[in-house]
Amino acid sequence: MLMNILNYAHYLLESSIEKGEKVIDATCGNGHDTLFLSRVVGNTGHVLAFDIQQQAIEHTRKVLDENHYTNVSLIHDSHANVSTHLKNDNIERVGGAIFNLGYLPQSDKSIITSGDSTVAAIDQILSVLKPNGLIVLVVYHGHEGGKDEMQTVLKYSMRLPQRAYNVLQYGFINQQNDPPFIIAIQKR
Ligand SMILES: C[S@@+](CC[C@H](N)C(=O)[O-])C[C@H]1O[C@@H](n2cnc3c(N)ncnc32)[C@H](O)[C@@H]1O
Repeated sequence: MLMNILNYAHYLLESSIEKGEKVIDATCGNGHDTLFLSRVVGNTGHVLAFDIQQQAIEHTRKVLDENHYTNVSLIHDSHANVSTHLKNDNIERVGGAIFNLGYLPQSDKSIITSGDSTVAAIDQILSVLKPNGLIVLVVYHGHEGGKDEMQTVLKYSMRLPQRAYNVLQYGFINQQNDPPFIIAIQKR
């Protein structure tokens, strides 16, 4: 069966992340992916979850507290600074990462992820990603500014050398209103 975008994003990560690993939610927003990753890595693993909006950090903290998940560091900073935070925590290898691009639902639609910071973060994470690990990007592009980011991310991903990375695009081509799609980058 064809999985919907969010289910397939989670399926890919669940297939490649091991319990006990350190993983990244680059855009925690309302915390759904953070909660998912927290469950996948288990008590012995750890999630670093980033967002530039205080309200996203607070919302995610609430969701984690309600579910008694304690294996997450919430980082109120841009994912473009991910390597600094990894160094501070002495993390030299990560098991996987997710990016959910666009704006925080039910919030200020002008605060969006941007191509430059997204690509900077992907680049930094790839350098510490485990072999066969995945970075999964859910690309929303229907909002203002979304197409610019989509082009930047696609251009970067398509140029990743084939000998070092497998890059997948997954999406539905008969849906209306700019449906989101997935870019998954697997380190070989
Ligand atoms: C589509 S939402 C994420 C949804 C989230 N994954 C969830 O499960 O609810 C995108 C989020 O990215 C955040 N964001 C935008 N630019 C960012 C950046 N440079 N670094 C980290 N987060 C950023 C926004 O504040 C917003 O909360």
